[in-house]
Amino acid sequence: MSTPSSLAILLSGQGSTMRALVEACRDGRIPLTPALVLSDREEAPGLAWARTAGLRTATVDYRGLGRRRAEERLAALLDDASPTWIALAGFMRILGSDLVRPWLGRMVNIHPSLLPRYPGVDTYRRALAAGEREHGSTVHFVDESLDGGPRIAYVRVPVHPGDDPERLAERTKAAEQKLYPWVCDRLARGILQWSHGSVRYRDGILEEPLDATAFLDG
Ligand code: GRF
Repeated sequence: MSTPSSLAILLSGQGSTMRALVEACRDGRIPLTPALVLSDREEAPGLAWARTAGLRTATVDYRGLGRRRAEERLAALLDDASPTWIALAGFMRILGSDLVRPWLGRMVNIHPSLLPRYPGVDTYRRALAAGEREHGSTVHFVDESLDGGPRIAYVRVPVHPGDDPERLAERTKAAEQKLYPWVCDRLARGILQWSHGSVRYRDGILEEPLDATAFLDG
C-alpha cells in the first residue's frame, strides 16, 4: 500500500488556521494526513490543541539556539517526517534559504493581506490607516522573499465603517479558514501546482492569483 500524502503545519500562536486545516484533512475535504505540527514556541496555544487532537508535535525553541541552529533542527524534523506538503499557519519566523530551498513548490503560507499589499506584520492596522475599503488573505508558495513567493489564491473581505484591527482580523480569519483548506485540497490533488516559479492551474499558468471569494461564499 502506498503511504498517504501528508501535511506538516508550522505555527507560533493560536492555531486557528492549523485547526481549520486539520479538521479539513480529517473530514475528507483535503486528501492529506496531518503528519506533524511544529512550533517555535512551546507555549503556543495551537500546539496544545494539536496534542489534544492526537497529532505528532514538536517545538524548536529559537531562544538560545540562534536562527541557524534552530533552522537546522527544523529541517531535520521536517526531513524525518517527510511530509508531502508543508503549510505555514501563523509561523512568525522568516525562513532562510537552506530551509526553504528543498521544499520549493511544496511549502505554502497564508498571509492576512491582499498581497503584494502589506507584506510583513500588522496588516490590519496598516490597511485601516490607509483607508482601504477591502482587505483579505492570500495563499502563496514560500520562496526566499518575505511574503513574496508566487501567489496562488486570495479571498477578499470588506472593510466596514468603524472597523478596528480586531474586528477586521476576525472577519479576515473566518474567510482565510475557508481559503486555506480550499487551496490545500487543490494542491494535494494536483489541480494547482508550482511550475518553475509560477503557479499552474489546470492546463495553464496563472497570470494573476485566483480570486476565491465567490467560491468560498456560504
Ligand atoms: C493568520 O491570520 C494567518 O493568516 C497569519 O497568521 C495568523 C495566524 O493565526 N499568517 P492563528 O494562530 O492560526 O490563529
